[in-house]
Amino acid sequence: MRILGIETSCDETAISVIETSGPPAKPRIKILSNIVSSQVKLHAKFGGVVPHLAKREHQRNLVPVLLRALKEADLSQRAKSKEKREMRGSYDSGSLIIDSILEREPELLKRFKKHIVPLKPPKIDAIAATVGPGLAPALWVGVNFARALSFLWSKPVIPVNHLEGHIYANLLSAKWEIANGQSSILNFSFPALCLIVSGGHTELVLMRGYGKYRIIGETLDDAAGEAFDKAAKMMRLGFPGGPAIAAMAAEAIKKKKEKRKDDEKNEVALPRPMLKSKNYDFSFSGLKTAVLYLLRARPELLKSRRGKAAVAKEFQDAVVDVLVAKTIRAARQYRVKTVMIGGGVSANQLLREKLKKAIRKNAPHASCLMPHTSLTGDNALMIALAGYFNRNKKSARNNLRADANLRLDSTRKL
Ligand code: KG4
Ligand code: ZN
Repeated sequence: MRILGIETSCDETAISVIETSGPPAKPRIKILSNIVSSQVKLHAKFGGVVPHLAKREHQRNLVPVLLRALKEADLSQRAKSKEKREMRGSYDSGSLIIDSILEREPELLKRFKKHIVPLKPPKIDAIAATVGPGLAPALWVGVNFARALSFLWSKPVIPVNHLEGHIYANLLSAKWEIANGQSSILNFSFPALCLIVSGGHTELVLMRGYGKYRIIGETLDDAAGEAFDKAAKMMRLGFPGGPAIAAMAAEAIKKKKEKRKDDEKNEVALPRPMLKSKNYDFSFSGLKTAVLYLLRARPELLKSRRGKAAVAKEFQDAVVDVLVAKTIRAARQYRVKTVMIGGGVSANQLLREKLKKAIRKNAPHASCLMPHTSLTGDNALMIALAGYFNRNKKSARNNLRADANLRLDSTRKL
């Protein structure tokens, strides 16, 4: 089966084509293409993702990204003149429909007519598209693009929950890059526990089978990634904050080895919110406020690199301590057989290392999967893969809608 995945939930425009073969439950995956066009530089100027700019960029990027993804997958053929007439004919007869599908994305429609309509329909079996959660204006561009392609090429669309994509990214063997884009689905057992940590979400998800999700805890306010971004802003480290804080914290770790007399003046302590609470919920907005008060009380901390590094390290330690402790407690209580992580914050090396160590020590009944660091951020490969596991949930084109607040425990109703 060949699946084309489309991802536009936030600030990455991404398209990927995968080919699956072998046993349905444990298929071999061939990654024919995996293109990600990031808008991060644009949004960095504003200190965060600006939804209407994300929508505009997706409109500009989707067609070139699709053309690249098809070309790399060796699936792009311009129609010969006779076929072209036929394609044109089929577009003309359906043009009113396609025009109305893309009426709110006029820039995309223009490019669609110019570059996509003349193509021969590629040999794919389905289109998997992220329908939520995410930024509504950004999601709609991808959803409408998928609907237009589905109409033009007569292919079904599989609606995909973005967070489910982050979960499935754990199942690809890290070796896929080396082996020419080939991967098999890694062995793992249910029940599985997945810690999802992204810019918009922080949740602990219990998975009892494919598509069977229960959210056992989630953040009551800011997501972990959001907390990294806001703390980094206060420390004037730029956007996105996660990698910037991680890099600063690494300096503190390095510098700790060369002890200095004045180190004491950079000693800082931040709270570990809800570490001891009995449930699996999180709260990071208090931690962000604690950073604000700390920097107000001791502005000199921001004047030296050592001071900044000390705050970054303590902040990262605080977030990671809470995430790891709650994940381990849940892994033990539910006697899970697998622990996974997903979302942008799962790129964080400290989180990865501490979680691995804690599982070995305190939850040895569970094995640990983690996505390859090239797949922790948003990408369409994980969407195509989630599409494969949801291949029986094809949606009627007209029912396909973006849902900014889509929850994992409602995935079955898609
Ligand atoms: O999953 P993602 O790419 O987008 C959403 O779906 O939200 O996650 C983006 C988030 C941002 O908040 C970013 O600061 C954070 O992931 N992030 C990190 C790291 N790399 C990205 N946070 C901590 N450490 C990192 N190395
Ligand atoms: Zn994401």
